[in-house]
Amino acid sequence: MIKTSRNKHKTRKGEHAISKHKDRPKQVRMFSPYVSEDAIKRVCQTLRSGYIGEGPVVEEFEEEFKKAIGVPYALAVTNCTTAIHLALAMAGVGPGDEVITSAQTMMATSHAILAHYAKPVFADIQFLSGNINPLDIDHRINKKTKAVLVIHWAGYPCDLDEIHAVASRNNLPVIEDAAHALGAKYKGKAIGSLSPYTCFSFQAIKHITTGDGGMLCVIRGADYQQAKRRRWYGIDRKQRKPSILGEPIWDVTDMGYKYHMNDIAASMGVEHLKKLESILKRRSQIVKKYRQVLECMSGITLFEDKEDRKSANLFFTLHVDNREDFARMMRSKGIEVSVVHLRIDTNKIFGPLRRDLPVLAKFTESHISLPLHNLLLDEDVECVLQCIKEGW
Ligand SMILES: Cc1ncc(COP(=O)(O)O)c(C=O)c1O
Repeated sequence: MIKTSRNKHKTRKGEHAISKHKDRPKQVRMFSPYVSEDAIKRVCQTLRSGYIGEGPVVEEFEEEFKKAIGVPYALAVTNCTTAIHLALAMAGVGPGDEVITSAQTMMATSHAILAHYAKPVFADIQFLSGNINPLDIDHRINKKTKAVLVIHWAGYPCDLDEIHAVASRNNLPVIEDAAHALGAKYKGKAIGSLSPYTCFSFQAIKHITTGDGGMLCVIRGADYQQAKRRRWYGIDRKQRKPSILGEPIWDVTDMGYKYHMNDIAASMGVEHLKKLESILKRRSQIVKKYRQVLECMSGITLFEDKEDRKSANLFFTLHVDNREDFARMMRSKGIEVSVVHLRIDTNKIFGPLRRDLPVLAKFTESHISLPLHNLLLDEDVECVLQCIKEGW
């Protein structure tokens, strides 16, 4: 175990030290939820305001989000899973339909498909990104296919031009699961501004958190109006007419859900959004350091890093030889490493194991992610790298 020296770990105001106790072995955590003091204050203010449901702070969060990310329409929802579920509903996905997607993701992506009694059809991925391979989509499309649902693994954008090309040839909408990709860019444009539907997550360990929360971004005004109704039982809040009997008058025409965010969560969102730029910057500094040192190291294969896109760096994933030995060695030195998510299609709910995803099978054997969050200190990064240099 590496011991921390006395007072070695400085704590920043309002942030939790990773290792505070002088005698505790150093622990480098994979993730660290970040809640700012300003967010705590704002939540208290909202709690005392008498308005804690969906109200003015949700609207404020959406407005600030649009400006900060550079997207035309944004709707705050309860989480990313519900954003994907709503997007699939809007794309017309229903019982018996098929959606082409990737299995290298968290369970949430395909559960949203299953919740519509539709079937996820898994396409293969790219070894050096973990993202869906656009060349493996076309031959999986048939009459039942209703949408293409892609994931930006670790925050590194997919090959969106190629994905949009195959989707539009087949008249299919593209939904982006951008749970990992807040602040990512593709060819200079913000993720969230490129496909008909993009879904973000503000769950605890994401770039910014609202405890739990999500954002559905759309690019057409009509979709925005529809999404706004359908995230609350199909009711158009703005068009409701007051009634002397108390409940406003409305006429619901679309099937909807209770998916809207509340003002308590949005209060955290508004404050954390102000930190997003510095969070992304810190993550990118750490990744730069990791890449510099690990680039030529034997037993390690780094992922691609194309000039035409900017990752949001939620994770730093790489391939290592002898992964179990690597993980054992890192953990024995107090450093958390994790695959984060293993291919989901091996779960029985998705049917028998696929044999037609050879790259995913190879990827699954060797990928691993290193600690990456904005509370990592330079010395933590050095420690991670030193341990790797010492071998496994
Ligand atoms: C790729 C991916 N999609 C969707 C989700 C679900 O996000 P949420 O917890 O906000 O529903 C996650 C959560 O970690 C995820 O990693």
